[in-house]
Amino acid sequence: PKIAMDVVVLENKHLSDDVKELIVYAPDIAKQAMPGQFVHLKVIKSEPLLRRPISIASVDEAKGTLSLIYRIVGKGTAAIADLKAENQVNCLGPLGHGFDLTCKRPLLIGGGMGIAPLIFLAQRLCPATTSILMGGRNKAELFWQKRYEGLVNEIFITTDDGSLGVKGFTVTLLPELLKTKQYDRIFVCGPEIMMAGVAKIAQSHGVACQVSLEKHMACGLGACLSCTCESKDGSKRKKVCKDGPVFWAQEVF
Ligand code: FES
Repeated sequence: PKIAMDVVVLENKHLSDDVKELIVYAPDIAKQAMPGQFVHLKVIKSEPLLRRPISIASVDEAKGTLSLIYRIVGKGTAAIADLKAENQVNCLGPLGHGFDLTCKRPLLIGGGMGIAPLIFLAQRLCPATTSILMGGRNKAELFWQKRYEGLVNEIFITTDDGSLGVKGFTVTLLPELLKTKQYDRIFVCGPEIMMAGVAKIAQSHGVACQVSLEKHMACGLGACLSCTCESKDGSKRKKVCKDGPVFWAQEVF
Protein backbone atom coordinates (compact mmCIF):
# COMPACT_ATOMS: atom_id res chain seq x y z
CA PRO A 1 0.00 0.00 0.00
CA LYS A 2 1.06 3.56 -0.74
CA ILE A 3 1.79 5.68 2.28
CA ALA A 4 1.14 9.39 2.45
CA MET A 5 3.88 11.12 4.37
CA ASP A 6 4.84 14.61 5.36
CA VAL A 7 7.99 15.67 3.53
CA VAL A 8 10.15 18.75 3.91
CA VAL A 9 10.29 21.49 1.30
CA LEU A 10 13.86 22.46 0.35
CA GLU A 11 13.07 25.01 -2.33
CA ASN A 12 10.07 26.47 -4.17
CA LYS A 13 11.18 28.85 -6.89
CA HIS A 14 9.71 30.51 -9.97
CA LEU A 15 10.80 29.24 -13.38
CA SER A 16 8.51 31.73 -15.13
CA ASP A 17 5.66 34.06 -14.11
CA ASP A 18 3.20 31.25 -13.41
CA VAL A 19 5.39 28.15 -13.27
CA LYS A 20 7.27 27.06 -10.15
CA GLU A 21 9.57 24.22 -9.16
CA LEU A 22 9.10 22.60 -5.77
CA ILE A 23 11.96 20.50 -4.45
CA VAL A 24 11.15 18.18 -1.54
CA TYR A 25 13.27 15.81 0.48
CA ALA A 26 11.62 12.41 -0.01
CA PRO A 27 14.31 9.73 -0.29
CA ASP A 28 11.93 6.75 -0.23
CA ILE A 29 9.84 8.11 -3.08
CA ALA A 30 12.96 9.22 -5.01
CA LYS A 31 14.33 5.68 -4.80
CA GLN A 32 11.18 4.01 -6.14
CA ALA A 33 9.98 6.57 -8.66
CA MET A 34 9.88 5.80 -12.38
CA PRO A 35 9.55 8.35 -15.19
CA GLY A 36 5.90 9.14 -15.91
CA GLN A 37 4.75 8.58 -12.35
CA PHE A 38 3.27 11.33 -10.20
CA VAL A 39 2.76 12.28 -6.58
CA HIS A 40 -0.39 13.52 -4.93
CA LEU A 41 0.31 16.60 -2.81
CA LYS A 42 -1.74 18.05 -0.02
CA VAL A 43 -0.76 21.27 1.64
CA ILE A 44 -1.15 20.64 5.34
CA LYS A 45 -3.89 22.72 6.96
CA SER A 46 -4.89 24.29 3.66
CA GLU A 47 -8.23 24.81 1.98
CA PRO A 48 -9.24 23.15 -0.23
CA LEU A 49 -8.21 19.88 1.32
CA LEU A 50 -8.15 18.06 -1.97
CA ARG A 51 -4.87 16.66 -3.12
CA ARG A 52 -3.25 17.85 -6.33
CA PRO A 53 -1.56 15.37 -8.68
CA ILE A 54 1.81 16.64 -9.91
CA SER A 55 4.07 14.68 -12.22
CA ILE A 56 7.61 14.01 -11.10
CA ALA A 57 9.88 16.28 -13.16
CA SER A 58 13.11 14.72 -11.96
CA VAL A 59 14.72 12.92 -9.06
CA ASP A 60 18.11 13.12 -7.45
CA GLU A 61 18.53 9.75 -5.80
CA ALA A 62 21.85 10.69 -4.20
CA LYS A 63 20.30 13.69 -2.47
CA GLY A 64 16.94 11.98 -1.92
CA THR A 65 15.04 14.80 -3.57
CA LEU A 66 12.12 15.12 -5.98
CA SER A 67 11.54 18.03 -8.33
CA LEU A 68 7.89 18.87 -9.00
CA ILE A 69 7.20 21.54 -11.60
CA TYR A 70 3.70 22.99 -11.72
CA ARG A 71 1.71 25.87 -13.15
CA ILE A 72 -0.28 27.99 -10.72
CA VAL A 73 -3.83 27.62 -12.02
CA GLY A 74 -6.17 27.67 -9.02
CA LYS A 75 -6.51 27.52 -5.26
CA GLY A 76 -4.81 24.13 -4.86
CA THR A 77 -1.70 25.03 -6.81
CA ALA A 78 -1.67 28.54 -5.28
CA ALA A 79 -1.43 26.88 -1.84
CA ILE A 80 1.49 24.79 -3.11
CA ALA A 81 3.09 27.94 -4.54
CA ASP A 82 3.00 29.53 -1.05
CA LEU A 83 5.14 26.79 0.50
CA LYS A 84 8.51 27.95 1.83
CA ALA A 85 11.73 26.09 2.58
CA GLU A 86 11.40 24.00 5.75
CA ASN A 87 7.59 23.84 5.48
CA GLN A 88 6.10 20.38 5.26
CA VAL A 89 3.74 19.08 2.63
CA ASN A 90 1.90 15.78 2.58
CA CYS A 91 3.06 13.61 -0.30
CA LEU A 92 1.51 10.38 -1.56
CA GLY A 93 3.45 8.41 -4.15
CA PRO A 94 4.98 7.49 -6.42
CA LEU A 95 1.65 6.75 -8.12
CA GLY A 96 0.55 5.36 -11.47
CA HIS A 97 2.23 3.56 -14.33
CA GLY A 98 5.17 5.22 -15.99
CA PHE A 99 6.80 5.01 -19.42
CA ASP A 100 8.07 1.81 -21.06
CA LEU A 101 11.80 2.40 -21.53
CA THR A 102 12.57 -0.48 -23.91
CA CYS A 103 13.52 1.51 -27.00
CA LYS A 104 16.70 2.49 -28.84
CA ARG A 105 16.01 5.82 -30.56
CA PRO A 106 13.31 7.70 -28.71
CA LEU A 107 11.80 11.04 -29.62
CA LEU A 108 10.28 12.87 -26.67
CA ILE A 109 7.53 15.34 -27.54
CA GLY A 110 6.37 17.85 -24.97
CA GLY A 111 3.81 20.63 -25.15
CA GLY A 112 3.55 23.33 -22.48
CA MET A 113 3.73 21.82 -18.98
CA GLY A 114 3.99 18.38 -20.58
CA ILE A 115 7.67 19.16 -21.07
CA ALA A 116 8.27 18.78 -17.30
CA PRO A 117 7.89 15.00 -16.76
CA LEU A 118 9.97 14.31 -19.85
CA ILE A 119 13.05 15.58 -17.96
CA PHE A 120 12.85 12.56 -15.65
CA LEU A 121 12.28 10.31 -18.67
CA ALA A 122 15.35 11.74 -20.43
CA GLN A 123 17.40 11.12 -17.26
CA ARG A 124 16.72 7.38 -17.65
CA LEU A 125 17.36 7.16 -21.40
CA CYS A 126 20.65 7.28 -23.32
CA PRO A 127 21.57 10.91 -24.10
CA ALA A 128 23.40 9.98 -27.29
CA THR A 129 20.29 8.55 -28.93
CA THR A 130 17.47 10.58 -27.37
CA SER A 131 15.94 13.69 -28.95
CA ILE A 132 13.22 16.06 -27.84
CA LEU A 133 10.69 18.13 -29.75
CA MET A 134 9.13 20.81 -27.58
CA GLY A 135 6.34 23.20 -28.40
CA GLY A 136 4.73 26.17 -26.74
CA ARG A 137 2.77 29.32 -27.47
CA ASN A 138 5.82 31.59 -27.45
CA LYS A 139 9.47 31.95 -26.45
CA ALA A 140 8.61 32.88 -22.85
CA GLU A 141 6.95 29.47 -22.36
CA LEU A 142 9.99 27.57 -23.58
CA PHE A 143 12.47 28.09 -20.77
CA TRP A 144 13.28 24.39 -20.60
CA GLN A 145 16.31 23.98 -22.85
CA LYS A 146 18.86 24.28 -20.05
CA ARG A 147 17.17 21.44 -18.16
CA TYR A 148 17.75 19.14 -21.10
CA GLU A 149 21.43 19.97 -21.59
CA GLY A 150 23.44 16.77 -21.41
CA LEU A 151 20.26 14.66 -21.38
CA VAL A 152 19.46 14.68 -25.09
CA ASN A 153 21.30 14.68 -28.38
CA GLU A 154 19.03 17.08 -30.29
CA ILE A 155 16.42 19.66 -29.32
CA PHE A 156 13.75 20.76 -31.82
CA ILE A 157 11.48 23.68 -30.98
CA THR A 158 8.20 25.01 -32.32
CA THR A 159 6.22 28.04 -31.16
CA ASP A 160 2.72 29.06 -32.20
CA ASP A 161 3.91 32.62 -32.89
CA GLY A 162 7.32 31.81 -34.34
CA SER A 163 9.19 33.69 -31.57
CA LEU A 164 11.49 30.68 -31.13
CA GLY A 165 12.29 27.70 -33.38
CA VAL A 166 9.91 26.76 -36.16
CA LYS A 167 6.59 28.60 -36.36
CA GLY A 168 3.74 26.15 -35.89
CA PHE A 169 2.92 23.17 -33.70
CA THR A 170 4.92 20.10 -32.78
CA VAL A 171 2.77 18.15 -35.23
CA THR A 172 3.84 20.56 -38.00
CA LEU A 173 7.46 19.44 -37.67
CA LEU A 174 6.90 15.81 -36.71
CA PRO A 175 6.28 14.19 -40.13
CA GLU A 176 9.58 15.58 -41.46
CA LEU A 177 11.50 14.37 -38.38
CA LEU A 178 10.03 10.90 -38.73
CA LYS A 179 11.00 10.82 -42.40
CA THR A 180 14.62 11.83 -41.84
CA LYS A 181 15.49 10.17 -38.50
CA GLN A 182 15.10 6.56 -37.47
CA TYR A 183 13.07 6.88 -34.27
CA ASP A 184 11.66 3.67 -32.84
CA ARG A 185 9.53 5.25 -30.11
CA ILE A 186 7.64 8.44 -29.40
CA PHE A 187 6.81 9.59 -25.88
CA VAL A 188 4.37 12.46 -25.80
CA CYS A 189 3.04 14.61 -22.99
CA GLY A 190 1.00 17.78 -23.46
CA PRO A 191 -2.47 19.03 -24.37
CA GLU A 192 -4.79 16.18 -25.36
CA ILE A 193 -5.40 17.50 -28.87
CA MET A 194 -1.65 17.58 -29.49
CA MET A 195 -1.19 14.04 -28.16
CA ALA A 196 -4.01 12.77 -30.38
CA GLY A 197 -2.36 14.43 -33.39
CA VAL A 198 1.05 12.97 -32.54
CA ALA A 199 -0.48 9.51 -31.99
CA LYS A 200 -2.06 9.60 -35.44
CA ILE A 201 1.16 10.65 -37.19
CA ALA A 202 3.18 8.06 -35.23
CA GLN A 203 0.76 5.33 -36.27
CA SER A 204 0.91 6.31 -39.93
CA HIS A 205 4.72 6.08 -39.77
CA GLY A 206 4.67 2.77 -37.86
CA VAL A 207 6.39 4.19 -34.77
CA ALA A 208 5.23 2.95 -31.33
CA CYS A 209 3.90 5.80 -29.23
CA GLN A 210 3.20 6.30 -25.55
CA VAL A 211 1.06 9.15 -24.24
CA SER A 212 0.76 10.58 -20.74
CA LEU A 213 -2.80 11.67 -19.96
CA GLU A 214 -3.87 14.33 -17.54
CA LYS A 215 -7.25 14.17 -15.79
CA HIS A 216 -8.79 15.63 -12.70
CA MET A 217 -8.17 13.21 -9.88
CA ALA A 218 -9.57 12.83 -6.41
CA CYS A 219 -8.14 9.72 -4.73
CA GLY A 220 -5.21 9.03 -7.07
CA LEU A 221 -5.42 5.38 -6.07
CA GLY A 222 -7.99 3.85 -8.40
CA ALA A 223 -10.85 3.93 -5.89
CA CYS A 224 -13.12 6.87 -6.75
CA LEU A 225 -13.43 6.59 -10.58
CA SER A 226 -13.21 10.38 -11.01
CA CYS A 227 -10.39 10.07 -13.53
CA THR A 228 -11.64 7.46 -16.00
CA CYS A 229 -11.23 7.77 -19.75
CA GLU A 230 -12.68 5.84 -22.63
CA SER A 231 -10.53 2.99 -23.91
CA LYS A 232 -10.08 2.33 -27.61
CA ASP A 233 -8.82 -1.23 -27.40
CA GLY A 234 -12.08 -2.91 -26.42
CA SER A 235 -11.27 -3.11 -22.71
CA LYS A 236 -13.28 -1.38 -20.02
CA ARG A 237 -12.87 2.31 -19.12
CA LYS A 238 -9.41 3.07 -17.87
CA LYS A 239 -8.45 4.85 -14.69
CA VAL A 240 -5.84 7.46 -15.55
CA CYS A 241 -4.43 7.46 -12.02
CA LYS A 242 -3.87 3.74 -11.79
CA ASP A 243 -3.87 2.20 -15.29
CA GLY A 244 -1.98 5.31 -16.49
CA PRO A 245 -1.18 8.12 -16.60
CA VAL A 246 1.01 6.61 -19.33
CA PHE A 247 -0.74 4.50 -21.97
CA TRP A 248 0.14 3.10 -25.38
CA ALA A 249 -1.48 5.51 -27.84
CA GLN A 250 -3.79 2.87 -29.33
CA GLU A 251 -5.28 2.14 -25.89
CA VAL A 252 -6.79 5.60 -25.58
CA PHE A 253 -6.75 7.40 -28.97
FE1 FES B 1 -9.75 8.12 -7.97
FE2 FES B 1 -8.43 7.80 -10.29
S1 FES B 1 -8.49 9.52 -9.03
S2 FES B 1 -9.86 6.45 -9.37
